[in-house]
Amino acid sequence: MKRAEGIQLEGVRKRFGTGAGMQEVLRGVDLVVPRGEVTVIIGRSGTGKSVLLKHVMGLMRPDAGVIRIGGQALTGLSDRELRKERFRFGMVFQHAALFDSMDVYDNVAFPLREHSKLKEDQIRIRVEAMLASVGLEDAGRKQVNELSGGMRKRVGVARAMVRGPEFLLYDEPTTGLDPIMTAQIDALIRDTQDANPGLTSLVISHDMAATFRIADKIAMLHEGQVILEGNAQTFHETDDPRVRQFVEGRLEGPIH
Ligand SMILES: Nc1ncnc2c1ncn2[C@@H]1O[C@H](COP(=O)(O)OP(=O)(O)OP(=O)(O)O)[C@@H](O)[C@H]1O
Ligand SMILES: [Mg+2]
Repeated sequence: MKRAEGIQLEGVRKRFGTGAGMQEVLRGVDLVVPRGEVTVIIGRSGTGKSVLLKHVMGLMRPDAGVIRIGGQALTGLSDRELRKERFRFGMVFQHAALFDSMDVYDNVAFPLREHSKLKEDQIRIRVEAMLASVGLEDAGRKQVNELSGGMRKRVGVARAMVRGPEFLLYDEPTTGLDPIMTAQIDALIRDTQDANPGLTSLVISHDMAATFRIADKIAMLHEGQVILEGNAQTFHETDDPRVRQFVEGRLEGPIH
């Protein structure tokens, strides 16, 4: 595995606002997301996880630092070139973000109809395969408002995967789901990665149990920096009180 083929962040900084309202959200983020694995970023609410994801997708530009996607540095690309890079990504949004006016099949077909020259019969093969891979082979003609929260997330994964992305990003994919559905979506994230060895999955989570179930690699973001990265064992064994408090879900500790 060549590390350069994954995602790399070096010294990434981002601030919002000016004067007294200035807030530096990313304060020099260094991170390697290896290709072919599931990497989970954890950290408390408001710490900059979604902002980090937007930088990786080229939706936000850093004030300083470098982001490389499969060896390609995003710095210096024009807006048009950035949009092209974005086609390498699939994104599963925090609240699924499906089109309510379309049924499940049309939601999953949408990226192909918009951004490929495939004919409808080729699209059908691809969409049906995607729906089967997320366990929704019989739900194609259901309307979005007929779906449970877990089914919506599954449709979101199918839609994100339909164009065969190199990188699949999930922003808190199990927020608002019950524990059983959460476990099913976690299994889907893991299965999707395992069925597509060339894929690289990057998941934002604040659920430690889920993180330990699916992650090959974990990185904790805290006060604008990655304060620990490694595998589950690294996180179980660390003495860092900030990480311990988060992993154990305790109220008392250095994080308020
Ligand atoms: N476009 C923006 N303009 C100004 N401030 C922003 C912008 N986007 C995010 N922020 C600020 O950056 C900080 C981090 O936000 P972010 O959404 O990344 O948090 P998060 O870690 O994803 O939290 P959560 O777990 O609740 O989703 C917040 O204080 C937020 O208000
Ligand atoms: Mg967020």
